[in-house]
Amino acid sequence: MGRCVFIDSLMKRLLLHIAVMSACLGLLVGAMAMSDTPPAADDHAQLEFLGHHWQAPIPPQGQPPAHFSSIEASLEPEGCAICHRAQYEDWSSSLHSKSMGPGVRGQTMELIQDNPKMALLCYSCHAPLTEQQEKIVKKRRHDSVSPQSASDDGESAVPTFKTNRVFSASLQQKGVSCAGCHVRGYQRFGPPKRDGSLENSAPAAQLPHGGAVRTAAFERAEFCKGCHQFEPNGYALNGKLLENTYNEWKEGPYAREGKACQSCHMSERRHLWRGIHDPEMVKQGVSVRLSLDKARYRVGEQVQAEMTLVNTGVGHNFPTYVTPKVVVRWELVDANGKRVNESVREERIGREVTLDLTQELFDTRIAPGKSHAVRYVRTIDRTGLTLRASVVVVPDDFYITFFEVMLPKARTKEARALLEQAMREGRARSFPIFTENVAVS
Ligand code: HEC
Ligand code: HEC
Ligand code: HEC
Ligand code: HEC
Ligand code: HEC
Repeated sequence: MGRCVFIDSLMKRLLLHIAVMSACLGLLVGAMAMSDTPPAADDHAQLEFLGHHWQAPIPPQGQPPAHFSSIEASLEPEGCAICHRAQYEDWSSSLHSKSMGPGVRGQTMELIQDNPKMALLCYSCHAPLTEQQEKIVKKRRHDSVSPQSASDDGESAVPTFKTNRVFSASLQQKGVSCAGCHVRGYQRFGPPKRDGSLENSAPAAQLPHGGAVRTAAFERAEFCKGCHQFEPNGYALNGKLLENTYNEWKEGPYAREGKACQSCHMSERRHLWRGIHDPEMVKQGVSVRLSLDKARYRVGEQVQAEMTLVNTGVGHNFPTYVTPKVVVRWELVDANGKRVNESVREERIGREVTLDLTQELFDTRIAPGKSHAVRYVRTIDRTGLTLRASVVVVPDDFYITFFEVMLPKARTKEARALLEQAMREGRARSFPIFTENVAVS
C-alpha cells in the first residue's frame, strides 16, 4: 500500500514535470522575444521559423505532391537513406534513433491507453511527428491543437482524444527521425549549403523531393532547445530548472564564442550526437589528474591523494542532466591483488534528485572551464599496497532505479519485459574514463 502511494505520487510528479517541460515546445519565439538584447532582423526571422517548425505535435504532413515517387513520399529514414546514406548511418548509431527504446516504450504503451495526454507529451520530444502518435487531440471549436495548451483549468478545456488515422507504428519506432527535424508538409528544410548559399542546385522541379528550403536556423542552438531545455517557469528544484542545458550553454563561454550545440555534437555536420553515453566524447570534454603528496609511504604514514576533474570541453555542466552520475572511486589493493577492507571511498558527481523529483540532494556538476577535486586520505598499514583510482560514468543512473520502481506498476507482460530490458541495458552502459594504479608502499 505504502509503495502504491509512493508510485502514484511519483507518477503525478512525473506528470507535472513533463507537462511543464512540454509547454515550452513551440514557444521559442515568445521566450526569445523576452531576452535582453533585441534580436537582429535575421535572428528574428530564424527564431520565428523555429517557433513554427517545432510545434507539438508536428502537424500531419498531408498529401504528398502528386509527382512524388513513393520514395520521395516516404517519411521513413530508410527512404532518405537511398540518397543520404552518410546521414542515415550516423543517425542509426545515435540515441536520436533510439528515443523510442524500451525504457520509453515500456511506459508509453500503457500511458497511451490510461493517460493519452501524458503519452502525447512524451512523444512531443521522443516521437514528435503526428504520424508517430497513436492518438490525436479531438479538435473542438476554440480548442487548441496541442494537448498541453488545452490544459487550462475548467472542464471545457479537458482534451479528448481519438484514433489517429495517419499513425504509423513503424515510423514511431524510429524516434527522433530525419523527417522530425527536416520535413514539414513534405517540403524538405535544411541548413545553408556548406558554401553558405541557400539556392537549390537546379530548378526545384528537376530535383528529388523538389529540392530544399535552406535556413541558418538549423545552425543555431535554439534548433535543439525545444527538447533540451525547460521553459523559464518550468519544473525547478533548488531554484534550478530540471532540464537546463541550453541556459547552461548560453551562460558559458561557448555561446560567447559562437559555438552552438552543433559545433560539438554535429561537427562536420555529422549526425552522431554523441554525449554522456559515449566514452570517447566524454574523454574529449573532461580531463582527470591524479596527484599524491609522496612517491612512497612507510607503514604508519598517511597517503594523501587527490583526483581533479576539469571540464575542458563540455559546452554546459558536466554532466548536464539529473540522470547520469560520475563516480570517483578509490581503493587499496594488497600484494595479492585483494581489496583492503574498508579502503573503498566513492564520491558521486552530478545532480542527485530523489526519485519522486521533490528534492535535490546535491549538485556537484562541473561548469565549463571549472574543476572539482576529490581527496583520499588513509593510513598505510602494511607494505605492498597499490592505490587504485578510477572515474566511472553511469549514464543512466537515475533511470536504473526509476525502472525498478516502475516495474511492479506495469500491467502487461510486454511492458514489464521492456522495462526489464531497459534496466539491463542501463546497467551495462557504465564505463571508466580514467583508471590508474599507483604502488604506494
Ligand atoms: C535532431 C534533428 C535532426 C535529425 C534527426 C536529422 N537531422 Fe539532418 N540536420 C540537422 C541539422 C541541425 C543539420 C545542420 C547541421 C549544421 O549545420 O551543423 C542537418 C543537416 C543535414 C543535411 C545537410 C548536410 C550537409 O552536409 O550539408 C542533410 C542532407 C540531412 N541533415 C539529412 C538528414 C537525414 C537523411 C536524416 C535521417 C537519417 C537526418 N538528417 C536526421 C538535424 C537533424
Ligand atoms: C524533437 C526533440 C529533439 C530535438 C529537436 C533534439 N533532440 Fe537531442 N535528444 C532528444 C531525445 C528524446 C533524446 C534522448 C534519446 C534517448 O536516449 O531516448 C536526445 C538525445 C540527445 C543526445 C544524446 C545524449 C546522451 O545521453 O548521450 C545529444 C548529444 C543530443 N540529443 C543533442 C541534440 C542536439 C545538438 C540537437 C540540435 C541539433 C538536438 N539534440 C535536437 C530529443 C531531441
Ligand atoms: C522536453 C522534452 C522531453 C519530454 C516531454 C520527455 N522527454 Fe524523455 N528525454 C528527453 C531527453 C532530452 C532525454 C535524454 C537526456 C536524458 O538522459 O535525460 C530523455 C530521456 C528519457 C529516457 C531515458 C532514455 C531512454 O531512452 O531510455 C526515458 C526512459 C524517457 N526520457 C522517458 C520519457 C517519458 C516516459 C516521457 C513522458 C512521460 C518523457 N520522457 C518526456 C526529453 C524529453
Ligand atoms: C531520390 C533521392 C533523395 C531522397 C529519397 C531524399 N533526398 Fe534529400 N536531397 C536529394 C538531393 C539530390 C538533394 C540536393 C538538392 C540540391 O542540390 O539542391 C537533397 C537535399 C536535401 C536537403 C538539403 C540539404 C542538402 O544536402 O542540400 C535535406 C535536408 C534533405 N535532402 C533531406 C531529406 C530527407 C529528410 C529525406 C527523407 C525523408 C530525403 N532528403 C530524401 C536527394 C534525395
Ligand atoms: C563545447 C562543446 C559542446 C557544446 C557547445 C555543447 N555540448 Fe553537449 N556535450 C559535450 C560533451 C563533451 C558531452 C559529454 C560529457 C557530458 O555528458 O557532459 C556533452 C553531453 C551532452 C548531453 C548528454 C547528457 C548529459 O547529461 O551530459 C546532451 C543532452 C547535450 N550534451 C546536449 C547539448 C545541447 C542541447 C547543447 C547546446 C545548447 C550542447 N550540448 C552544447 C560538448 C558540448
